[in-house]
Amino acid sequence: MLRTRFTETFGIEHPIVQGGMMWVGRAELAAAVSNAGGLGILTGLTQPTPDALREEIARTRDLTDKPFGVNLTILPSITPPPYAEYRQAIIDGGVKIVEIAGGNPATHLPYLKDAGIKVVHKCTSVKHALKAQQVGVDAVSIDGFECAGHPGENDTPGLVLIPAAARELEIPMIASGGIADAQGLVAALALGADGVNMGTRFLCTAESPIAQRVKEQIVANSELDTKLIFRTMNNTARVADNAVSRQVVEIERNGGSFEDVRELVAGARGRLVYENGDVDAGIWSVGQCQGLIHDIPTCAELIGRMVREAEDLINGRLAGAVVEAVAS
Ligand SMILES: Cc1cc2nc3c(=O)[nH]c(=O)nc-3n(C[C@H](O)[C@H](O)[C@H](O)COP(=O)(O)O)c2cc1C
Repeated sequence: MLRTRFTETFGIEHPIVQGGMMWVGRAELAAAVSNAGGLGILTGLTQPTPDALREEIARTRDLTDKPFGVNLTILPSITPPPYAEYRQAIIDGGVKIVEIAGGNPATHLPYLKDAGIKVVHKCTSVKHALKAQQVGVDAVSIDGFECAGHPGENDTPGLVLIPAAARELEIPMIASGGIADAQGLVAALALGADGVNMGTRFLCTAESPIAQRVKEQIVANSELDTKLIFRTMNNTARVADNAVSRQVVEIERNGGSFEDVRELVAGARGRLVYENGDVDAGIWSVGQCQGLIHDIPTCAELIGRMVREAEDLINGRLAGAVVEAVAS
């Protein structure tokens, strides 16, 4: 058993979290991860209204009696969603774990803590992790540059970011970005993390509610098949390399502004990718670790395999390596 400060604090069996994923983090996936002993997370803003989120929380509860969380992603927006109402839906739904990403958790924290909710803050730098610790979150999840979605602007890969954060932080931390298998899990623990957060790997599971064609594309892709868009706008996002992301990068290279790419990057187009399986319909998030993904397992198969192989790795090859190093 891989028990860590994270599993103890959040009452889960295995130190494996499924991060919030727009359009993907629905009841079926979150419940499957939680039922397998990990921590499944619904993506709040995937639901069109706070009331729809209330229903999705109830639906998840019908599918699992294990702990699950809700992600609230606070991104800069011209017309921001009603965050306070989404937050209230989470509280009313009796959810006990929230993942906040994209912005400062301080605004929401008092309401969540008053409701007895444990908060994980997802960020991309040691500085922001320390700030989140200071304002009182229960744990941080730190995304290295390898990750799908928003890796921040510092380009620090997990191999450096995670031990740098572990050195400074006192609260539990989970490593995110680039992790897709037992080797990644063991490496994260060795680097000082208390567990892992995975997006891309869970995107490519049987219960992930996206078109089979997209999952097959992830299996076919290598670690080279991602693009970084919005670099010129200080809002970098790692997405699949496809006809649309190549066009966006080209427009940015030629000095284009957000207005010039607005139509290409529309969320509704990205959603079509997942619904119809047309992998060139729009922008869709995926991480470099797609190069490590070779199958489409159920969440239970995936988590069971990762934990089993991690234990074998620690007690077998690594224990042997230590003994050999001592003997030589
Ligand atoms: C399809 C997809 C959608 C995502 N949407 C969100 C989101 O809405 N909010 C968020 O905080 N993170 C989002 N992420 C990031 C993941 O929660 C996680 O931090 C990231 O995927 C970790 O990197 P990995 O893909 O290498 O595992 C998304 C990731 C993917 C693959």
